[in-house]
Amino acid sequence: SVPTTYDEPVHIAVIGGTGIQTLPDFSLAATLTVDTPWGAPSSPISILHHPSPTSGKPIPIAFLSRHGPLHQLAPHEIPNRANIAALRSIGVRTVIAFSAVGSLQEVIRPRDFVVPDQIIDRTKGIRPFTFFEGGMVGHVGFGDPFDEGLAKVVRQCGHALEGDGVTLHDKGLLICMEGPQFSTRAESNLYRSWGGSVINMSALPEAKLAREAEIAYQMICMATDYDCWRNGGEDVNVEMVMGHMKANSQNARRFVAAVLNELSKEEHAEQVLARHLEQHSKFGGSIT
Ligand code: ADE
Repeated sequence: SVPTTYDEPVHIAVIGGTGIQTLPDFSLAATLTVDTPWGAPSSPISILHHPSPTSGKPIPIAFLSRHGPLHQLAPHEIPNRANIAALRSIGVRTVIAFSAVGSLQEVIRPRDFVVPDQIIDRTKGIRPFTFFEGGMVGHVGFGDPFDEGLAKVVRQCGHALEGDGVTLHDKGLLICMEGPQFSTRAESNLYRSWGGSVINMSALPEAKLAREAEIAYQMICMATDYDCWRNGGEDVNVEMVMGHMKANSQNARRFVAAVLNELSKEEHAEQVLARHLEQHSKFGGSIT
């Protein structure tokens, strides 16, 4: 049976959508049922072990399923505050979030990946969207909604897979809409006139809450459809989204796993450095 506690802090997390419930080369080390002042998260948090790049302790990765273990939560039902608070409570400071998106540009074809760098909020303000209320006042900057350092790692990893059938777009304007209904054709064309690249229902308030919780956050998008703006094409429907997601899930998993490999290397280097510094101070050295 799988342990239900985990003693070490976990710094890196993946928030997964459809298609990346498991990751190649990772093993399940624990399953945590976490409670928060904002309720329970979408799913228990799986702690996955990544084989350490060299010798030493494995790097733990937290995995949270955004729509729940049975994909039972609609976008407006996702307990975003509980999800972010639960991850923060186990030590998470870095989140890679994954999402299926509609494409608003001809060049972004279904199954292409996009690393968005901007968001326009088209949610309707009905999702709880802040930790700062009830006497706790705070304002955080959100000019760049994603973490640029994390974006760099993600882009490098995506391009490294390009020979193997992965197509990556380095930037993109993500429209986050309320749903659960898809957009009207007029809305879809409006978003295109704004320069929108892709559209989904799940980047917000997730990214805002991560910023409030001081968690570095980057979303990886995978296009599953051309929404409803494209003449002569079929309008988006759930079967289309699921079909492309499923067909390309191996690439999605490989992409996420490659990013985790890279982040684990950085994490490992930090652990080694921390150990050296600790040894150094133990033996009377000082850090100047
Ligand atoms: N997720 C996947 N495709 C989408 C679309 N066309 N609109 C909104 N969310 C989506």
